[in-house]
Amino acid sequence: MTNYIFDGCDTVKLAEKYGTPLYVISESHIIERIDEIKRDFLDKYPNTKAVYACKALQTVGICKLIDKEGLGFDVVSGGELYTAIRAGVSPSKIVFHGNNKTYDECKMAIDCGVGTIVCDSISELIMLNDLAGEMNKRVEILFRITPGVNSHTHEYISTGHHESKFGISPKILLEGRLLESALSMQNVLLKGFHFHVGSQLTDNSSHIFAVKKLLEFIKEVINITGFIPSELNLGGGYGIQYRDDPPRKPLSYYTDPMMEEIITFCNNENIKLPTVTIEPGRFIVGEAGITLYQVGTIKTTLGGRTFVSVDGGFPDNPRTALYHAKYDAIAIEKMGEPNQSLVTIAGKCCESGDILVWDIPMPELKRGDYIALLSTGAYNYSMSSNYNRIPRPALVMVKEGKDRLSLRRETYEDLISKEIF
Ligand code: LLP
Repeated sequence: MTNYIFDGCDTVKLAEKYGTPLYVISESHIIERIDEIKRDFLDKYPNTKAVYACKALQTVGICKLIDKEGLGFDVVSGGELYTAIRAGVSPSKIVFHGNNKTYDECKMAIDCGVGTIVCDSISELIMLNDLAGEMNKRVEILFRITPGVNSHTHEYISTGHHESKFGISPKILLEGRLLESALSMQNVLLKGFHFHVGSQLTDNSSHIFAVKKLLEFIKEVINITGFIPSELNLGGGYGIQYRDDPPRKPLSYYTDPMMEEIITFCNNENIKLPTVTIEPGRFIVGEAGITLYQVGTIKTTLGGRTFVSVDGGFPDNPRTALYHAKYDAIAIEKMGEPNQSLVTIAGKCCESGDILVWDIPMPELKRGDYIALLSTGAYNYSMSSNYNRIPRPALVMVKEGKDRLSLRRETYEDLISKEIF
C-alpha cells in the first residue's frame, strides 16, 4: 500500500522528518494557479493586473515566490506591508487595504511608496490627504464601494452588503458630493473604485451583480462629475474545493462575465477600458496546502460518536469552529484501505468547539497514525494562534519531490520570549 504523495513528496516521510502538526505548502500548486491567472485573465485581457491577497497566507518565502511569478500584493496591515517589503516586493506593486488603517500604517505606506491605497471611509480620505500633504507626496487611491450584494457564503465572510463594515455606499458618495471633494483634494489622486463581495464564493452571481452595480454607479459619476475612472479593482473571493464540494470553478467562470460587462460598458459609453485588477487569495494558496497531524486518543462516547483526537486543532486551524468549514481528511498511510466508520476528528484544545472535521468516514485508525487535512493553505497559518499555549506548527514548502523547511516549529521558549519578567 502506498502513502499519500503531495507534490512528489511522501507525506509520511515529511511527518517523520519535521514532526506534526505540520503545514505543507506545494509550490507547484501555487505556480499552476498563477499560470491559470496569467492565461485566462492577464494575457487574455489588455491592461489587467492581479494582486495576491496576503491575508490568505503570508511569509517572506511565499511573497518571494509570488513576486517571482509577477503578481502584485494586497496587504491589509502594517505587518503584511512590512513582510512584503522585507521580501523585496516593489512598493509600487502593493495595494493597501483596511477599514481602519491607522495613522502610522498610512504614514508607513505613503513613506515607502505603496502603489495604491484603497480608501475605505471619508475620515480616512481626509487623513490621507492631510498626511500626504505633510509628507509632500501625492497618493493614488481607489474608493472601496459596497455594491449591496448578499453573497452566498458564511455571513462572516460576506462583505459587499449594505450593512458591511467595509467600504462606502455609492449612494452616500453621490449624495454627499464626496467624489467632488476627493477630486478637488491636492494630495490624493482618485484613480477609480474597488469592491470585494466576499470570500469562498462558488457561484459567480455576486460578482456579476456587483460589477453591474459598479458600472451603473460609474455612469452616474461620469454624468455628475465628468470623472472617468482609470482603474477598477474587482476584489477576490473565488471559491475552492472543500469536502463534499464539486471541483472548484475555473477563474474565467468569474472573470469572463465581469470583463464582458466592463468591455461592453466602455464601448457603449465610448470611454477607454480602465486597468482592471483582481485580488485572489484563497484561489492561489488554498488547495496548495495540507496539514499533517498524528492521531492520539481515540474514544467512542455513550452516544456513539467516535472522536479521533489529533495533536493540533483550533490553534492551527480555527476555520471549522469559526465558519463551519468542511475539510476532507486522509489517513496518509492507509490509502486504498476501506473506510470502517464515521469519526469526528477533534483537536487537543480545552474547548468543545475544537473540532477539525465532523463525521467523516475513515479507515480503522490507531494511536500514532498520521492524518492529512486537505485544502488548508488559505486562512490556516495566517489565522493561527497560541491558544492553550500551543506552539505554532512548522511550515514546509514542497516541490516535485523536494522539501524545504520554511518556518521552524515554535518552541515553548518562543511562547515566553516577549514577556518582560
Ligand atoms: N480582497 C479583499 C479586499 C479582501 O478583503 C479579501 C479577503 C480578498 C481580496 C481575498 O479573498 P479570497 O480570494 O481569499 O477569498 N478568514 C476567512 C476569509 C476572510 C477573507 C477576508 N478578505 C476564511 O477563513 O474563510
